[in-house]
Amino acid sequence: MILNSRLLANLLAPQFRRPSGILGMYAARFMTGRNIPRTEWAIDKCDIRTGHVVLEIGFGPGYGLAMAAARAADGTVYGLDFSPAMVRMASRRNRDSVAAGKVRIVNGDLSPAPFAADFFDRIVAVNVAYFWPKPERELSEIKRILKPDGKAAFYLSDKASMGASAFTNTGVFTKYTAEEFRLVLSACGFGAIESETRTQFVNGNEVVGHCFLVMK
Ligand SMILES: C[S@@+](CC[C@H](N)C(=O)[O-])C[C@H]1O[C@@H](n2cnc3c(N)ncnc32)[C@H](O)[C@@H]1O
Repeated sequence: MILNSRLLANLLAPQFRRPSGILGMYAARFMTGRNIPRTEWAIDKCDIRTGHVVLEIGFGPGYGLAMAAARAADGTVYGLDFSPAMVRMASRRNRDSVAAGKVRIVNGDLSPAPFAADFFDRIVAVNVAYFWPKPERELSEIKRILKPDGKAAFYLSDKASMGASAFTNTGVFTKYTAEEFRLVLSACGFGAIESETRTQFVNGNEVVGHCFLVMK
């Protein structure tokens, strides 16, 4: 049997929401090839400093945890992801930092987040907001666990760029323009919403992405 692209898209799309098994490993490899520069962008944007307690939500393969740990001297980096496969992969990738207690990896869901209120100085989520069916619920959790002077950064690819891809049209992804995501953030009560838009070339394709920085 030859897999047509719709069938392949329907098989693969859920693996980006919550990777598992062999297809999840394929999705993780795909992410690693494309998302490192976007992760770096979001982490740079949120200005991690010495002593900060940082959370990456949806760390996937775990490169963002390593980048954040390199910036948070004397601080701690937590990771939260509900995929056991990604928890294993990220734990391997960050094994020395995990052993030293610098990186703490939690297998769990953002809604509700297993953290106390006002706990984090910085929160980063790259390519995760697409999977929140009721984004107000997840964003209010982020607001709850952010310190009063904390900042959160979100990266998401633009709706138009994502529309060009077969597997993003499967109903698994909620796509946003910059304006639509700004409205969602604003409705959740975040202040000082800044955003930057860049065009990146990934495997010969032009992808427009937005990085948002918000304050509690
Ligand atoms: C598309 S991957 C992005 C991985 C990485 N941030 C990147 O950009 O390469 C989405 C990740 O977020 C995790 N995730 C999605 N929704 C989540 C939720 N509600 N709580 C915890 N993790 C979640 C998934 O398990 C997956 O590892």
